[in-house]
Amino acid sequence: MIVMKILGISGSLRKQSYNTAALRAAGELLPAGATLELFDLSSIPLYNEDIEPFPHPVRAFRAAIAQSDALLIATPEYNHSISGVLKNALDWASCTPDPPCENKPVAIFGVSTGRFGTLRAQLHLREICAALEMLVLPKPELFITHAREKFDAHGQLIERETRERLRALLEALIAWARLHAPRM
Ligand SMILES: Cc1cc2nc3c(=O)[nH]c(=O)nc-3n(C[C@H](O)[C@H](O)[C@H](O)COP(=O)(O)O)c2cc1C
Repeated sequence: MIVMKILGISGSLRKQSYNTAALRAAGELLPAGATLELFDLSSIPLYNEDIEPFPHPVRAFRAAIAQSDALLIATPEYNHSISGVLKNALDWASCTPDPPCENKPVAIFGVSTGRFGTLRAQLHLREICAALEMLVLPKPELFITHAREKFDAHGQLIERETRERLRALLEALIAWARLHAPRM
């Protein structure tokens, strides 16, 4: 069986990030035949069209996307939208030549400490992914609310129902990527 390579991207840079912790939990919940590698956005510089060629971290990010079969993006919500960190990285990824996001299957989810669970950020992220011509998984949606109650002090996702929802999201993403990738 060909292994499905999923690239995990967290829109939060902080060490104790719930979104990054959720991606680590996703790694534990993966079905057989799939791998999940996280890309750390902290070395991606601010986008500037004057910078040529692409800086090394940008090239590494674009290559990681190109070499993956699917993306899994965990977005925080900052002021009712996605983080500047995530938008900046996606802007770099969108640049020609050969934008690596085109036709790339992607699943979106997010974690917040509040009661909306990144609902508004995810709606914006869906629009941005459409602009990048990505193939956004329509359902299931996953809004992880009240993060402090669902993760322990070590960043472990401890709530069983949320773990099951995350597992279902992964299974749906893998099926979605297989649908769109002839080599699978
Ligand atoms: C600048 C800023 C703006 C925020 N705006 C929102 C918001 O609009 N909606 C929301 O639910 N949470 C908001 N939050 C709280 C975040 O959801 C919370 O900090 C979350 O833990 C961030 O994700 P992380 O743990 O992955 O870093 C905001 C936090 C920051 C730092």
